[in-house]
Amino acid sequence: FQPKLLAGRRVLLTAGPTFEPLDPVRGLTNSSSGKMGFALARACAEAGAEVTLVAGPVSLPTPAAVTRIDVQTALEMRAAVLKSVAAADIFIGVAAVADYRPVQASEHKIKKTAVGSALTIEVTANPDILAEVASLPAAPFCVGFAAESQNLADYAESKRLAKKLPLVVGNLVQDGLGSDGNSVILFDDAGQHKLTPGPKMEIARGIVAHIANMLEQD
Ligand code: C5P
Repeated sequence: FQPKLLAGRRVLLTAGPTFEPLDPVRGLTNSSSGKMGFALARACAEAGAEVTLVAGPVSLPTPAAVTRIDVQTALEMRAAVLKSVAAADIFIGVAAVADYRPVQASEHKIKKTAVGSALTIEVTANPDILAEVASLPAAPFCVGFAAESQNLADYAESKRLAKKLPLVVGNLVQDGLGSDGNSVILFDDAGQHKLTPGPKMEIARGIVAHIANMLEQD
């Protein structure tokens, strides 16, 4: 009999994009299908963890035995995370949080101006949810994602150090975005570990095994 890898652990994840409204029909967003985050939530639940998934706007079914909290904006995502984080042993930030939000969302639809004329939208930086969670006095074990289009190792490792994360999952966006498969490299204090490229569910199980391994050595 083999005990499940995350039995007794409580995992909180974010997944999907956030949507930052500009007016009732428009907004700023990132492209993220949510597939990797949902696959990880499912893999954590399969590994015996109690899982809470804070999801931005995506059209994906909730994995079995996962508690889902739907949000739209980065501020809503942050609030939902901060509300649940005290009960988490592991936090995995998979969401592609919009870096900026419009300073003001118009109550009514913004009218088009003449063709070729400029429209200026003032934006403000959103809080970094993962960095904030990682710096809490009683921070859970924090895992970040780094989706890059170049220099993956450099960017992923600097993100890991800047946000003070024990583990970052790096992927080249060309490989993973929107698709069912992915190819990732894990970055931790011990160095780099490339997972065998494959379906997102297989990658998710590989990440879970790595996390369980790191926690065991703690
Ligand atoms: O810095 P960058 O946005 O590339 O970092 C990616 C990691 O940080 C991901 O794990 C993402 O979920 C998390 N993040 C966050 N809040 C933000 C921006 C990124 O939690 N505002």
